[in-house]
Amino acid sequence: MELRTVDALVEAIQSLRVRGAPLIGVTAAMGLAAVIRGLQSAGAPRTELIREAHDCAARLKASRPTAVNLSWALERMERVLDDAASGPPAVLARRLGEEAEAIQALDARTCRRIGEHGLGLLEGCSRVLTHCNAGALATAGIGTALAPVYLAHEQGMDVQVLVGETRPLLQGSRLTAWELGQAGIGVTVLTDNAVGELFRRTPPDVVFVGADRIAANGDVANKVGTYALAVLARRHAVPFYALAPTSTVDLHAGTGEDIPIEHRTADEVRRGLGATTAPEGATIWNPAFDVTPAELVDGIVTEWGVCRAPYGSALAHAVSAAAGPPP
Ligand code: MRU
Repeated sequence: MELRTVDALVEAIQSLRVRGAPLIGVTAAMGLAAVIRGLQSAGAPRTELIREAHDCAARLKASRPTAVNLSWALERMERVLDDAASGPPAVLARRLGEEAEAIQALDARTCRRIGEHGLGLLEGCSRVLTHCNAGALATAGIGTALAPVYLAHEQGMDVQVLVGETRPLLQGSRLTAWELGQAGIGVTVLTDNAVGELFRRTPPDVVFVGADRIAANGDVANKVGTYALAVLARRHAVPFYALAPTSTVDLHAGTGEDIPIEHRTADEVRRGLGATTAPEGATIWNPAFDVTPAELVDGIVTEWGVCRAPYGSALAHAVSAAAGPPP
């Protein structure tokens, strides 16, 4: 798709044409740079560019509330904007473009590093359960939760992935099953409500999920359904890991209670993907994310390594490492 206006960007993010925490951050940064480049080419003065850029950043930040990568990327863009504010408009536009490209390149490198750290956790594992889509289609690289799976496959290890459909929009069956199939990696799709029976009969060896926001204490917000997997994993003594870049860690959120959870429209549930599956009059509750408490998380894999409980100091350390020279 080509997205050339702020309205088009906001619509694409809200309707999930582009989705996944890291990828909406990259898209927003690229979009802001493209909008400003367009205005600058049309001869807009510096004051207008600056005003429009801040306005664009504010609208994009508000487009989806849970994934903190969105505001992380836009705050990076706004820092460049402040730095270049007194220079010529062409320089301002160029620097924003360079920053957006740097964010994209960083995400690609970050995914690979998450994969390298996560690979060690796959030792002796052949069946990985994941949820939603935290793969290549959610990032600018090889994904987060799926990154170790791609690297294991590259190395000739036999890894199979199990994925719940991920109601109501089916990111698991539509995206994860598709991208793993493209890579030649074995994938089994199950309904979300079959997961308890899966654990009872043939538990997976490990659970790998992505994250949309991780609080300072290690509570993990991710696609709704993740918490149920974590409870089952603990009940069946299966290790449960969240894999995410440090740009997903929000040290301002003390616990999961401080993470805003997006609620989406009733129609996503009532009409599924076209067919009506609930009565018009039924009240619908449609949170898009849930919070898994840190005590159920065996580790959080970032580009700087595997953080273990107590997460407070481990996450703060990873975030400060990320503020240094890029990986
Ligand atoms: O609503 P979505 O499809 O954007 O939700 C995506 C997820 O919950 C992913 O697991 C998360 O963003 C991690 S993506 C690497």
